[in-house]
Amino acid sequence: MKVKIKVGDGYQEFQYDGDLNITVTSLLEKLGNPVEYSCSCLQGICGACAMVINGEPKLACQTFLKNEQVVKEYEVITIEPLSKFPLIKDLKVDRSILYDSMKKSKIWLESDAKVNEKDLDFEYEMSLCLMCGCCCEACPNYDLGDFVGAHIPVSASKVIGQEKDSGHVKEIKKSYKKGFYNHCVKSLACEDSCPAGISTQRAISRMNKKSVWRIRELLHHD
Ligand code: FES
Repeated sequence: MKVKIKVGDGYQEFQYDGDLNITVTSLLEKLGNPVEYSCSCLQGICGACAMVINGEPKLACQTFLKNEQVVKEYEVITIEPLSKFPLIKDLKVDRSILYDSMKKSKIWLESDAKVNEKDLDFEYEMSLCLMCGCCCEACPNYDLGDFVGAHIPVSASKVIGQEKDSGHVKEIKKSYKKGFYNHCVKSLACEDSCPAGISTQRAISRMNKKSVWRIRELLHHD
């Protein structure tokens, strides 16, 4: 099969005729690591190896050649860096904006976390976020501008459920409305692309309900 790797403005091409039951990171290794890329855990935990594989953002260490339709049909694989983040080199990008947006959105706890038994499953699911950037890459509206990206409702919905400091909860809701709600076009490409299988839709609905619709407040007239 042909391996096409985006390097700068063009593509480097390689031939690979081995086993298809390997991941993209193993493929890069078998090719002698001809380009630079990020990876760490190789277990789908750290999110470092996110890249665009056959046009879709994916974790290279979790993407098997044998499962790629384009590989099966056309015997070719195309590997590109995430396009929405500043390029460092080859397949390596700078995703520090994901952490900057967490700070901007005030995603932290000011108090000891409160535990609501009924929210534990939801909060566990939200805590699976890898901060890999696949959701931002897939989003038609994310462009490193004012829009903070889908990892924000995922983390914010967990944190406001645990935060006891009501002033801080208000600040999180306000920055969510400004940085996420006012920009999201609800394509839900974020949910389709999340390698951790997080329902971003659940996170967005929960944040919209708490920050924008204010149903509870309206019902209670406060
Ligand atoms: S290397 Fe950690 S998720 Fe792929």
